[in-house]
Amino acid sequence: MSKTVKKFVCEKCGQEHLQWSGRCTACGTWNSLVEESKVASPKGRQTSWLGERAPISKLGEIDSSSMGERWQTGVAEFDRVIGGGVLPGSFGLLGGTPGVGKSTLILQLMARIASLGKEVLYISGEESAGQIKERANRLAVDQSQIQVLCESNLEEILGHLERERPQFVVVDSIQTLFSVEFPASPGSVTQVRESAALLMRFAKAKGAAVMLIGHVTKDGTIAGPKTLEHMVDYVLYLEGVGEPGRLLRSVKNRFGNLSEIGLFKMTPKGLAELANPNQLFLEQFHWGKPGMAIFANFEGSRTLFMEVQVLVGDTEQRQPARMAVGLERNRLQVMVAVMEKHLGLDLSGNDVYLNLAGGFRVGETAIDMAVVAALLSSHLNKPLPERSVFAGELALTGEFRVVPGLEERASEAERCGFTKFYLPQRALARLEKKGVRLEMVGIDTLDQLMRQVAETL
Ligand SMILES: Nc1ncnc2c1ncn2[C@@H]1O[C@H](COP(=O)(O)OP(=O)(O)OP(=O)(O)O)[C@@H](O)[C@H]1O
Ligand SMILES: [Mg+2]
Repeated sequence: MSKTVKKFVCEKCGQEHLQWSGRCTACGTWNSLVEESKVASPKGRQTSWLGERAPISKLGEIDSSSMGERWQTGVAEFDRVIGGGVLPGSFGLLGGTPGVGKSTLILQLMARIASLGKEVLYISGEESAGQIKERANRLAVDQSQIQVLCESNLEEILGHLERERPQFVVVDSIQTLFSVEFPASPGSVTQVRESAALLMRFAKAKGAAVMLIGHVTKDGTIAGPKTLEHMVDYVLYLEGVGEPGRLLRSVKNRFGNLSEIGLFKMTPKGLAELANPNQLFLEQFHWGKPGMAIFANFEGSRTLFMEVQVLVGDTEQRQPARMAVGLERNRLQVMVAVMEKHLGLDLSGNDVYLNLAGGFRVGETAIDMAVVAALLSSHLNKPLPERSVFAGELALTGEFRVVPGLEERASEAERCGFTKFYLPQRALARLEKKGVRLEMVGIDTLDQLMRQVAETL
């Protein structure tokens, strides 16, 4: 006889509670506890590899090549983000908003991995085999080696995995899987966590690479328990950046650099790599408008130009708005405070709105100089010189600090036809020695930048 055990699970963090309460004691979220009951099975699952014992070995004696070589898909924008290719035995997550192109990207990648001679299995709980076939026809990918399983029952899936032993498994999506051991509905915290836990054990025990596709919630995080992100080796997000652009970023990677991003363009034939993204961005910049400055971003291994837009407007509110999209709001607030202190500006009667065009998000402090320039440009209603670009970090003392990668930023700016590069004065001589031909304007303090903006035109 099976016995039903009642419990309450927090939808936000996955913490289990024996009793309901209005607030999760683990993460502090209100109204996040939902009742879920588990059928405690005395027999447990019959899948043999789940019971296999792992041996203890000395780290020095372990053959690192046992992980195997990374599988390079040849899609450079993806390979770079994931850290050089898919690692056998890795367990990861690809998230994205509905319709952004997750299934498209994954089908294209699977065809590439299959062409390396790997056994690939695409498990879909969302679409029928016919729909997948139709997409594959449209993308014109080699379909001969891609195996498809339309199933959402976890026990059935585990059975298939045990029999077929594929080397690369994609589950589209983790929110559709359900185990008969839990009466909870697919997509619930329990189902997502249990399904992921078993698929992870398959990946680690059999050395197969497993990639889960996950839906994102309104606040932009993967739907399901927060623990899901802790379980996986990497978390990739596919996002839209100005139609038809798509951006792939990693927010967690146990085997790779987090700052790399991949850029694609959605086409009727699927996602095409953007080998020269700056060319596309340059066409979209609003040159000659007050309140816009171009920032030379260098977070991964390449420079990308981004349009920083700032709007400074009058307000009657006692607490003026400080809003930022694409940049941390706190950072904007700090910059406003530093400008008020060191420039003697009074922005207490002004709302300040910042937007990083195209849906980009930047964590790099090098953006500061572009933000300040755009803010001053909007405040003074003076456009900045066309084809000019900025990079430099603002210190609380009102001075600009040197940031890494200035040489790379300068050479890409030169290649893309920019004519002026505003950067911290201290880096100027070094860059001149390196043969940068672009006109460089050294800016040490907020005062100097203010004068530059005021003198424009
Ligand atoms: N014929 C077409 N021509 C151009 N683009 C298309 C075409 N068909 C689909 N697309 C693009 O593909 C996107 C859907 O891709 P896909 O189904 O891979 O997204 P998804 O992220 O898997 O969505 P879901 O969350 O619904 O599973 C559409 O939003 C559209 O941009
Ligand atoms: Mg899909």
